[in-house]
Amino acid sequence: PMISLRHLLDHAAEHGYGVPAFNVNNLEQIQAIMQAARQTDSPVILQASAGARKYAGEPFLRKMVEAAAEMYPQLPIVLHQDHAASPAVCVQAIRSGFTSVMMDGSLMPDAKTPATYDYNVDVTRQVVRMAQAVGVSVEGELGCLGSLESGQAGEEDGVGAEGTLSHEQLLTDPAQAADFVAQTGVDALAIAIGTSHGAYKFSRQPTGDILAIERIKQIHARLPNTHLVMHGSSSVPQAWLAVIREHGGDIRETYGVPVAEIQEGIRHGVRKINIDTDIRLAMTGAMRRAMAQQRSEFDPRAFLKQATAAAQALCAERFEAFGCAGQA
Ligand code: G3H
Ligand code: 13P
Ligand code: NA
Ligand code: ZN
Repeated sequence: PMISLRHLLDHAAEHGYGVPAFNVNNLEQIQAIMQAARQTDSPVILQASAGARKYAGEPFLRKMVEAAAEMYPQLPIVLHQDHAASPAVCVQAIRSGFTSVMMDGSLMPDAKTPATYDYNVDVTRQVVRMAQAVGVSVEGELGCLGSLESGQAGEEDGVGAEGTLSHEQLLTDPAQAADFVAQTGVDALAIAIGTSHGAYKFSRQPTGDILAIERIKQIHARLPNTHLVMHGSSSVPQAWLAVIREHGGDIRETYGVPVAEIQEGIRHGVRKINIDTDIRLAMTGAMRRAMAQQRSEFDPRAFLKQATAAAQALCAERFEAFGCAGQA
């Protein structure tokens, strides 16, 4: 059944696990995640960006998720709007049947320019008021996670996109987080703790201490009832990068967030872990390999099946690693 994010993450907090929130855009990604969830008996967060609704078309996205709930009636499913750039996008998502929305008021509606704190509080509070009236959960964001395009902030040198902010200044401030939640009433809060979006997070192999664990602890201590969300949580599997490169792809050296670091975050209060890039890499690797190996094949299902299987295996690994398996 479809449930709210608050409902699912309250259970996760009570039982000490984290839930991967996978981005979806098409049939194969939804099938891969649902198959992995059934295989591991895990509750599911399907999240869609505004771009995903544009890509699939709102009715297709809505009906595909409806189909997932029909095919897997035993699994709890949250349908979450990822990074809404305005309250209007949240309204569209709620009308489309989403059970949770993220109002990303850390950026202006162009999704590029950093917003002021007061703007963030104002738009997030508006969305909470609206969403609460219809039982939909709200995630807010506080701190500088780096541009959704460049994903520069959070890189290991600790220098933001502008090259002027220090690593410390980019992290979410615990006192401000407490004030933000008091003023807005969000159910979940995305915090900046050293990660960034996209495939190019770190240019050298992380040796631990990627996440600002002390920050997580401080924020969690002040906000025990607000579920912490970690964006930019792809691990960027080196094995899939190798497959992509072996079959004609061109992706420069890059590293993601080690799963062990995410597990450490979960031990200190992180409950929702956003993953998009890893599924993209696994599906692209599987398709490149299948197309290179089955040169006379021209039924796209042959390639897409490989992509789905690759994404399923990746999702199952994350469900297991985050302690989500067996919790459905
Ligand atoms: O954080 C952003 C997600 O990776 C979604 O990306 O806007 O390209 O769908 P998208
Ligand atoms: P990745 O780019 O690390 O997969 O993060 C996705 C994300 O945070 C979506 O909101
Ligand atoms: Na989100
Ligand atoms: Zn994100």
